[in-house]
Amino acid sequence: MERSETPKRIGIVTGASSGLGRAFAEELDRMQVCDELWLVARSADALEGVAAALSTPARAMPADLTDVASIQKMAEALDDERPRVTYLVNAAGFGKFGSWDTVSDADANAMVDLNCRALVDMTRTVLPHMERGGRIIQVASAAAFAPLPHLNVYAATKAFVLRYTRALRWELHGSGITVTALCPTWVKTGFEKVARASGGGHDVGHLWGEQDAGTVVRRALRANKAHFAVACASPQSFALRVVGKVVPSCVTMAGWNILRRL
Ligand SMILES: NC(=O)c1ccc[n+]([C@@H]2O[C@H](COP(=O)([O-])OP(=O)(O)OC[C@H]3O[C@@H](n4cnc5c(N)ncnc54)[C@H](OP(=O)(O)O)[C@@H]3O)[C@@H](O)[C@H]2O)c1
Repeated sequence: MERSETPKRIGIVTGASSGLGRAFAEELDRMQVCDELWLVARSADALEGVAAALSTPARAMPADLTDVASIQKMAEALDDERPRVTYLVNAAGFGKFGSWDTVSDADANAMVDLNCRALVDMTRTVLPHMERGGRIIQVASAAAFAPLPHLNVYAATKAFVLRYTRALRWELHGSGITVTALCPTWVKTGFEKVARASGGGHDVGHLWGEQDAGTVVRRALRANKAHFAVACASPQSFALRVVGKVVPSCVTMAGWNILRRL
C-alpha cells in the first residue's frame, strides 16, 4: 500500500460512546487538532452516533477492552496505517458500589481488567506511534486519593492508574510526550447507573456536587497542556488530594463512611 508523506494525526479515545470519553471526542473535534478520531467502546451504534455528530472524520471501532484480542486489533490497525497519534485518552472504565461480598466476582475482575490492564495495554500499544508533542490523558478519579470501603476495588484501580501515570510521566521526561492523570470527583455521565447495578448499589447515597463532563474535559486538556501530572478539575478534588496526602487513611475512611450514607 502506498503511504502519504505526512502521516495522519489521529486522536484515540476509549470509552467514547458516553460520558467523559464522548466529551473528550467532542472537545478534540472542536479544537480541530486531529485529522481523524478513532473512537473505542463496546456499543457500535452509540459510537456511530458520536462519530456522525463530529466534523473531524471519525472511525467507530467497537471493542470490548477487557478482551486482550481487542488490543491486538488496535496494534494491527496502527502498524498497518502508521498514523502519528497526537492524542490518547483512556476513558473507558467503570465502578460498582458495594462491599466485597455484594460486588460480583465477574464485576470485580472486569474493573481490574478494564480500568488497569486495558489502560496499560492501550498506552503501551499507542506510545510507539507517538512523537514529540503527543498527549495522553489517563482518566483516573478522586477515588485514587484514598482507600474507599464500598467502592473498594474501583478506588484501588484508580490509585493504580494514578501511580502508573506518575511514573510513566517520569520515564517520558525529555520525549516531549505529556501524560496527565485526570482525577475528578463525581461527573454527570452514565457512571452512576452502572455503579448502582450491583448487589450493594445503594451503599453510596447522593453523589454530591456532580460536574458537567465538558467542564472536566476542558480543564483536563488545559492541565495536560500545562504539563501537570494530575488534573483535579475541581476545588473539591484538589482538597481531597491534599487530604489524601496529609490525613491518615483510617481517618479518611471514617469520614467517607459518613459521607457515603448521606
Ligand atoms: N462519572 C464520574 O463520576 C467519574 C468520576 C471520576 C472518574 N470517572 C471515570 O471516568 C471514566 C469514564 O466514565 P464515565 O463517567 O464517562 O461513565 P460512562 O458514561 O458510563 O462511560 C464509560 C465508557 O466506558 C465504556 N466501556 C465500559 N466498559 C467497556 C469495555 N469493556 N470495553 C470498552 N469500553 C467500555 C462505555 O462504553 P460501552 O458501554 O459502549 O462499552 C463508555 O463509553 C471511567 O474511567 C470512570 O471511572 C468517572
